[in-house]
Amino acid sequence: MKMKKILFVCLGNICRSPAAEAIMKKKVEARQLEHLFEIDSAGIMNYHGGELPDDRMRKYGSLRGYKVDSIARQITKEDFEYFDIIIGMDNQNIADLKRKAPNKEALKKIQKIDVYFTKHDFTFVPDPYYGNEKDFNFVLDLLEDACENIVNQHLQ
Ligand code: 4NP
Repeated sequence: MKMKKILFVCLGNICRSPAAEAIMKKKVEARQLEHLFEIDSAGIMNYHGGELPDDRMRKYGSLRGYKVDSIARQITKEDFEYFDIIIGMDNQNIADLKRKAPNKEALKKIQKIDVYFTKHDFTFVPDPYYGNEKDFNFVLDLLEDACENIVNQHLQ
């Protein structure tokens, strides 16, 4: 089976996508599938480049056993070449990714995360930045659901 390189993308790369990265890495490690998945995250914008994830996401993530500690960076042209699958969190992310994609091959790699939801009747992962504890935990619920199915689908 071939290694899948997956990039999670959100607006700032400090809340949703680093949490998705941490959740996915934990699931991959727990099932000893490191040889089959390479995982990273990036932002549409560089508002928080070089920073650790948002303190609230680090805290609520760690309460569920996730180490949300990747350093924020903006998506690059090379990312569209390197990764096999580029997963955005909401419609705006998808529109921005399509605008940034350098060619047709890159466009085909873009997916919205809700295609992996099975437990939630929801079409995106809402930006929790101006939200509260409940909003951050809902993001984690959605991302756990999606990541479980990303692992399962790409093993088939
Ligand atoms: P994220 O959340 O896209 O899930 O990382 C945001 C973080 C920062 C900002 C917006 C969304 N911001 O405007 O700084």
